[in-house]
Amino acid sequence: MANSIKGLVLAGGTGSRLRPITHTSAKQLVPLANKPILFYGLESLARAGVSQVAMIVGDTREEVMEAVGDGSQFGLKVTYIHQPKPLGLAHCVLMAEEVLGDSDFIMYLGDNFIRDGVREFVDTFAHRTDGTNAQILLAKVPDPHRFGVATLDEEGHVVSLVEKPEVPPSDLALVGVYLFDSQIYKAVKSIEPSARGELEITDAIQWLITNGMKVRSHIVDGYWKDLGEPEALLEGNRLVLESIESTIAGEVDSSSRLEGRVVIESGAKVIRSKIRGPVIIGKGTVIKDSFIGPFTSIAAGCTIDSSEVEHSIILDGSKINNIDRLEGSIIGKSVAVAKTERRPFATRLVVGDHSRIDLV
Ligand code: G1P
Repeated sequence: MANSIKGLVLAGGTGSRLRPITHTSAKQLVPLANKPILFYGLESLARAGVSQVAMIVGDTREEVMEAVGDGSQFGLKVTYIHQPKPLGLAHCVLMAEEVLGDSDFIMYLGDNFIRDGVREFVDTFAHRTDGTNAQILLAKVPDPHRFGVATLDEEGHVVSLVEKPEVPPSDLALVGVYLFDSQIYKAVKSIEPSARGELEITDAIQWLITNGMKVRSHIVDGYWKDLGEPEALLEGNRLVLESIESTIAGEVDSSSRLEGRVVIESGAKVIRSKIRGPVIIGKGTVIKDSFIGPFTSIAAGCTIDSSEVEHSIILDGSKINNIDRLEGSIIGKSVAVAKTERRPFATRLVVGDHSRIDLV
């Protein structure tokens, strides 16, 4: 039965590649279409019939625990495990053994997004009759050297796995979702830390293969994970916005026009503006005398006044005023971007660490 499978969700780590956004937010809480990446994962676990989840948290645990709570908002029961140091994904498995017991489990990396969810994947594992010990997800990616990379034989069986190889043997990256039976504990106890000082899950799965266990793979579409570049985050946002359905809970005045699929959350106001979807406008945000173009997510409590914004992500509480055109941008929380008529006519910046500004 699918619902006897437990979940192990990894929500630690520092998110250094997503700075400056992750200076103040856990990477798993960075939103795609106004919803934290982690929430998509938790929802898909619940849809797959998982009910009990062990969640590994690190330095950002307060924020993660506040957002997820006891898991009941997702129909899950979440038990937190604090990992004081990021010692690797296989180390997380070791830490979770006591909570997971000898159940089969799905390990889900909280910064991974899988558009079509994991239900089919969990079902296949739950109903297997061939004694498979582990099942991995793979996706074709353009930059496999940033991932664990798999080599398959002609029948599609996994022959070998290597973590972040300089010369990748294929373009099949390990997606951060894995299914294991209790044999994985033997593997994580047998491997040594890698050159980066971590117990790698890739090495643990390779150990399973080398020791004659059955490891199956499954190739997925619609995969996204943060690659540390703003463009990658915008791409994830696009991926989610591509499949949103229109819902208008906020107010749109009669001089405004909405085109395509647009979500206006409750308490938001659209005044004398044009919005061309797919676009999501967060709770309580005000859009006034502006144009919001495709693939834009504007979070809660923002004000966009007399500006044009397209293909961008704007986080909570930010204000954009009198900007002719903002495109391909990621704006953090409580940021103010304004064009003023004040003298001297100079660009004045108060910008945090690891920010990036492209002026024209
Ligand atoms: C981890 C795994 C890697 C996998 C990736 C997917 O890497 O070690 O094999 O491809 O997650 O997100 P990390 O992102 O922790 O460097």
